[in-house]
Amino acid sequence: MALARRHRLLLARRDQRLRRQGILRAALFISASTCAWYFGYLVAELIPDGPLATAVYNIRSIGEKPVLRAPAPKRHKYDHCPPNTYAYWLLSGGSKNKYAKIYFENELLIEEMTGNVGKGINIALVNYTTGKVIATQYFDMFQDDNSEPMTEFIQGAPAKSLLLMMTHDDGSSRLKEDAKKAIEALGSKEIRNIRFRSSWVFLTAKGFDLPAGIEREKIDHSINAKNRNLDWPEEIQIKGCIPKEPS
Ligand SMILES: *[C@@H]1O[C@H](CO)[C@@H](O)[C@H](O)[C@H]1NC(C)=O
Repeated sequence: MALARRHRLLLARRDQRLRRQGILRAALFISASTCAWYFGYLVAELIPDGPLATAVYNIRSIGEKPVLRAPAPKRHKYDHCPPNTYAYWLLSGGSKNKYAKIYFENELLIEEMTGNVGKGINIALVNYTTGKVIATQYFDMFQDDNSEPMTEFIQGAPAKSLLLMMTHDDGSSRLKEDAKKAIEALGSKEIRNIRFRSSWVFLTAKGFDLPAGIEREKIDHSINAKNRNLDWPEEIQIKGCIPKEPS
């Protein structure tokens, strides 16, 4: 009996050892593959498209003065968006220092670093035919009377443009009826529900209809008991792919 138990114990230990070795081997294999991949990547980066002679020259000159650059930061790209569509991603402001952002195709149309984001309602106008930005503007809805200029900005958007809107901080305090009407006329179902520091994001089109299936609008109210950052609402997002104009 005792012998059989000891035997089982030994077998169990051996199994454990083998398993550990297996894990170690897998880890070694993965790190070796990563190194090989990275080496291949470096070589590919170093060798230009020119004839071999210049490639050799470049490698030699790089050998003298190492200039191994880190890979260029990958910019945002929605790989899942099919061809003939525009990729969009709107993020409302989240907290005091978490600003609103708009990614459109490979560009950041509005964000902190481009310096065109502000408290209130942020809007980007995009030419639907070309996918290029026409204008960006933010309208403070707490400090000053910006509801009318914003209404004019929205009404002045040319036909065949996309309007992308989102709040940072408060977008409601001095938002007036005319502005709400203008936004509602563009298909908003939530603008009348906006409250102090609600997060709100909205995508719409002027002069044509967007397909029904895509994410258009979201709202999230600031509720102190629920917010992670006291009286700041949570960041909310919408994203998707807008079919381009058939050419
Ligand atoms: C979009 O760009 C095209 C080409 O430049 C131009 O003809 C058209 O008027 C623009 N449309 C809008 C809405 O800006």
